[in-house]
Amino acid sequence: MKAIAFTEYGSPDVLKIKEVAKPTPKDNEILVRVHATPVNFGDLMARNFGNVTPSEFNMPAPLYLPSRMAFGWNKPKINVLGSELAGEVEVVGRDVTKFKAGDRVFAYVGMGMGANAEYVCIPESGTVALKPSNLTYEEAATLPYGAVMATSLLAKANIQRGQKVLINGASGGIGSMAVQLAKHFGAEVTGVCGTPRMEFVKSLGADKVIDYTKEDFTQNGETYDLIFDILGRSSFLRVKRSLKPNGIYLLASFKMKALLDMLWTSVMGSKQKVICSFANETAESLEFVKKLVEEGKVKAIVDKSFPMEQASEAHRYVEDGRKQGNVVIAI
Ligand SMILES: NC(=O)c1ccc[n+]([C@@H]2O[C@H](COP(=O)([O-])OP(=O)(O)OC[C@H]3O[C@@H](n4cnc5c(N)ncnc54)[C@H](OP(=O)(O)O)[C@@H]3O)[C@@H](O)[C@H]2O)c1
Repeated sequence: MKAIAFTEYGSPDVLKIKEVAKPTPKDNEILVRVHATPVNFGDLMARNFGNVTPSEFNMPAPLYLPSRMAFGWNKPKINVLGSELAGEVEVVGRDVTKFKAGDRVFAYVGMGMGANAEYVCIPESGTVALKPSNLTYEEAATLPYGAVMATSLLAKANIQRGQKVLINGASGGIGSMAVQLAKHFGAEVTGVCGTPRMEFVKSLGADKVIDYTKEDFTQNGETYDLIFDILGRSSFLRVKRSLKPNGIYLLASFKMKALLDMLWTSVMGSKQKVICSFANETAESLEFVKKLVEEGKVKAIVDKSFPMEQASEAHRYVEDGRKQGNVVIAI
């Protein structure tokens, strides 16, 4: 089968079409013919991971070395990127009961990756579900990562109807889903993003959009029940006065300082809380978002689709900050 492979870290030019072995599903796995796979934050990071310095690494410093070892120090150990996809089940393993050949699915395969290929095997108990029936494969492929991360992390903050919520990083993979879910949960939502993506974030339903290049949300006098910082670019010290007395500061990306803030607010019994957490990757999150999409409450926005042969261009387009929504590779 064909795959978009890379054997060295670097610029988008390291991505090449290669012939690789077609995987065979184990008894508990499904073999999916991939139709579309987006380019997300993890793909860009993994493609260039050998050149990412500890200060550019978005997670606590003690995780840097194990992550570099796991991904490969000088050369990538994982040679095919792609953590999410939509496609059609071609074959099911003999123990599989949840899916059958011909099912149209969307899935998050996580940091094991491999979705930038014609076929991928996924355990039936993995983060995979029938795709929303009203979406194309390309549209459906853009949802799993954001759905899994935003559903799980917003649940950890126990988001409630009527709350005032700010999403810092509202135009990205996690933030664009978080804006839509927060609106669905009945919150009043402010999204923060860069200038070119303000209209995009408005189109997701945000009540207010702040351009981080022009305004510092921590200085405008507004207060929120929940501040969800996707890239962890703010800090508890800075956002404290933008949080209501019982406000929650939720981080998808966090370093040691944020973990200490979480510990401190917890030990001191502070009313304002810091939550740093990894998301739970569950098929239920996909099923939840599928239902919302079919009810017209959540949308999937494809900015541009590239054929497999132009995977490098797709990465460059995302890396240059040109995207408005999602960029998909059609397989
Ligand atoms: N906790 C978990 O389980 C988990 C799982 C997966 C990923 N993550 C973390 O999530 C992060 C990636 O999120 P993503 O995929 O949504 O990223 P993304 O698609 O690259 O989006 C990044 C967002 O941050 C915004 N942004 C960039 N610079 C900013 C600044 N200075 N101030 C405010 N916003 C800024 C971007 O706005 P513009 O593009 O409009 O400029 C965009 O909205 C990574 O740090 C990763 O480690 C956490």
